[in-house]
Amino acid sequence: MGGQSLLLLAIAVAALGYMVGKRISKSPLEPFPWSQVPSPPSLHGALAPNEVLINAELLHVNETVGPEAFALGADGSIYTGLADGRVVMLNDRGEDLRTVFFVGGFLSSQCREAGAKTGLEECGKELRAECSAAARARNRGASEDTERRCGRPLGLQFVASNATLYVLDAYHGLFALDVSARHAARQLFDAASTVPEPAAGGARAHRDTRRPVRFLNDLALAPDGTFLITDSSWKHARFNNRLEILDAAPRGRLLRFDPADGSLKTLLCGLHFANGVVIRNGTTALIAESLRFRVLEVPLAALSADAGDASATAAALTRCSGAALPPHVRVLAANLPGFADNLEESAPGGGGGGGGAATLLIGVGTRAAKPFSLLHYMFWLPPAARSAVVALLGPVLMERLIPRYGLVLELNAQTGEVQASYHDPTGRVPFVSTALRHPTTGYLFLGSSQNPFLARVRAP
Ligand SMILES: *[C@@H]1O[C@H](CO)[C@@H](O)[C@H](O)[C@H]1NC(C)=O
Ligand SMILES: *[C@@H]1O[C@H](CO)[C@@H](O)[C@H](O)[C@H]1NC(C)=O
Ligand SMILES: *[C@@H]1O[C@H](CO)[C@@H](O)[C@H](O)[C@H]1NC(C)=O
Repeated sequence: MGGQSLLLLAIAVAALGYMVGKRISKSPLEPFPWSQVPSPPSLHGALAPNEVLINAELLHVNETVGPEAFALGADGSIYTGLADGRVVMLNDRGEDLRTVFFVGGFLSSQCREAGAKTGLEECGKELRAECSAAARARNRGASEDTERRCGRPLGLQFVASNATLYVLDAYHGLFALDVSARHAARQLFDAASTVPEPAAGGARAHRDTRRPVRFLNDLALAPDGTFLITDSSWKHARFNNRLEILDAAPRGRLLRFDPADGSLKTLLCGLHFANGVVIRNGTTALIAESLRFRVLEVPLAALSADAGDASATAAALTRCSGAALPPHVRVLAANLPGFADNLEESAPGGGGGGGGAATLLIGVGTRAAKPFSLLHYMFWLPPAARSAVVALLGPVLMERLIPRYGLVLELNAQTGEVQASYHDPTGRVPFVSTALRHPTTGYLFLGSSQNPFLARVRAP
């Protein structure tokens, strides 16, 4: 190599180094160290790969983009929320698609002035077209601002006793749709203008309990009429969920909304991506802590102990650092093979080898298991290195590196033991966020925050 080539090489290396350094210094991550990342589980026994999901039928392709969660109506109909801000209703076979609510339209000033009931009226038409286009373009066209204007309905809960469908929007808070009155909606709280209070108040309250809510995710109605609600991050909005995932920071919370007085309180903080929440048997909250690959279990009585038992609450509040679980929180299931997303209870009788106990169906968004787990590799890296990798590749490319794989787990709801798992190794139905076993038609419905369809399959 001549002197000139060497010089050119040196310049190229220096330029590359400069660009790399510049990108790293602008890394969008603020990663948290994770000192005890478990080693990824291997898929054997009840986790052994099978082909149960590969024959899933894809329904409403390009019509239902990002059906993230399901709720079951009293007549067996299915509700789901979409990336374009709509809530739609399907029959018990997943057919006969009907739009019942449009968050963005409902909140738009035109519709407010017009006294609109669902946002589907003329006043919301223009925005609906824009949101539909943005949702279809997904990673390309959309922005956080568009998603916020359109709305992003995630958690859903149907309450048969008063024919109300509760819809939790990631950006805008909680809505109640009156199913008996053509789904007329009202907003119960507006996330943008609400800052939760600590459950017990007082000097011990950690500042993280009072952060604004940025990424509402799922809800469950407790027997006392209050709602348990997960907020996945006080930093990133849903649009930037990839950054929250790669940060693996303790920014998630469990909140309680009381419709009686409109209060929003923090019950637990310091959760690493609080995700799906259900109430088992009227007594116990189960919460997916996605970035600890586990499901937590807390008796409702302990969560509402704020008035009487200050010590439990104090422990919950010091936990905002994410260091340790408070004493009343137990791990129901640990080291799951991936990103546990939504939880659905399934009636007794279903499930592989089920002896009649209720089971928990878990959509696993990203498989993280032997032999390859991108998430584990990322979390093994020290924060600065993780930041550098993401700065260089970008979160969108990182996501492309995740193998497409469909996975649903079925756990014993009482013991947390994995009873069965349903796989699609071909990745035709990847990134499953939620799975619902329909009680009358027996179909297993699969939703995903990313797929432009919902899927159904005859599963065991
Ligand atoms: C859905 O959209 C994609 C991308 O625009 C397109 O390639 C595909 O053919 C569409 N599928 C259906 C069934 O419309
Ligand atoms: C329906 O029931 C829930 C839970 O009990 C309650 O919070 C809500 O106010 C009721 N809604 C209506 C419209 O009565
Ligand atoms: C539900 O709770 C009742 C009363 O506490 C108990 O007898 C029953 O076994 C529980 N059922 C399940 C499925 O946990």
